[in-house]
Amino acid sequence: MSGKVIINDVGPRDGLQNQSARLSVEQRVALIKALLKAGMGHIEVGSFVSPKAVPAMLGTDRVLAALNTEQSGFSVLVPNMKGYELARAAGAECVAMVLYGTDGMARANANMTRVEAERVMEQILQRARTDGVRVLATISVAWECPFDGPVAQDTVADIAHRFVQLGADQVVLADSIGAANPQQVRELTSMLVNEHGSERLACHFHDTRAMGLANVFAALESGIRSFDASISGLGGCPFAPGASGNVATEDVVMMLEQMGYDTGIDLRELMSASRLAARLTNNVPGGRARAWLDRHMGNNKKVA
Ligand code: COA
Ligand code: ZN
Repeated sequence: MSGKVIINDVGPRDGLQNQSARLSVEQRVALIKALLKAGMGHIEVGSFVSPKAVPAMLGTDRVLAALNTEQSGFSVLVPNMKGYELARAAGAECVAMVLYGTDGMARANANMTRVEAERVMEQILQRARTDGVRVLATISVAWECPFDGPVAQDTVADIAHRFVQLGADQVVLADSIGAANPQQVRELTSMLVNEHGSERLACHFHDTRAMGLANVFAALESGIRSFDASISGLGGCPFAPGASGNVATEDVVMMLEQMGYDTGIDLRELMSASRLAARLTNNVPGGRARAWLDRHMGNNKKVA
């Protein structure tokens, strides 16, 4: 099993969409550039959603315009075909589209049923394949839904199976509210890795109950080598009551590097990005690694 692990920082989208401080386009770009400087190869830079639903993501077209979109690794979230078209018009080469484990979450997030959302995502996937656009298919509430409760493994496995078959570049299992425990993560991820291999699977955890890192570890043991995380642990979904921030990128990177995995990320620069995220959002960071790393780096000790 490979020692390389890919981290996709979703802070500029999942993190910022739920902050009381509204960042300007320039500030959003500054945060993304700080992540790039740390060697982050994959960043979800924003979303093309209704500005009434998520005002903080207004201007994602201008965020993309300020970045070199030919540089691979930027994705944008799209909830429907209109979002896909806007993303393409803005030059996006990779879209993250959203599937749902339940009707409750599909309705709250996109005003569709679970099956309606699947049909729309299938259409987007077809368009994307014709356009040569990469597709990350995120299955929201893959373990538990704030509206409909626990989600059956078979439901998620069926959706994952369909979208792998249809040609999604990656299927991302999202614990959108941070309700999964490591045993459940181990069960679902090992089943899906056995079926599909690990190459096209990823996980997305929220740290609501401090199980984020344990869930990353459980998925890692199943063979998953690709994770979403959010700089400084920013985040939370405005449509999923009770969701707190994503597992912090710095926590995940520190753990992985100390375990001998290669993330390609420079922890010192990542700390600068973390401090910037905290400063820009005027928020208490969710991650636990920063205080530790700052102290050790201040003493010039080896940190990873
Ligand atoms: N981007 C921008 N505007 C959009 C849009 C998109 N992707 N999709 C629809 N709209 C606009 C429509 O043009 C319409 O505008 P108008 O009122 O000026 O005519 C308005 O939004 C309503 O359109 P409709 O198709 O009826 O959407 P809806 O009210 O059923 O809302 C979504 C559905 C998907 C657009 C909305 O719920 C949404 O943006 N959700 C995203 C949630 C999110 O980002 N969650 C976090 C990520 S998981
Ligand atoms: Zn999330």
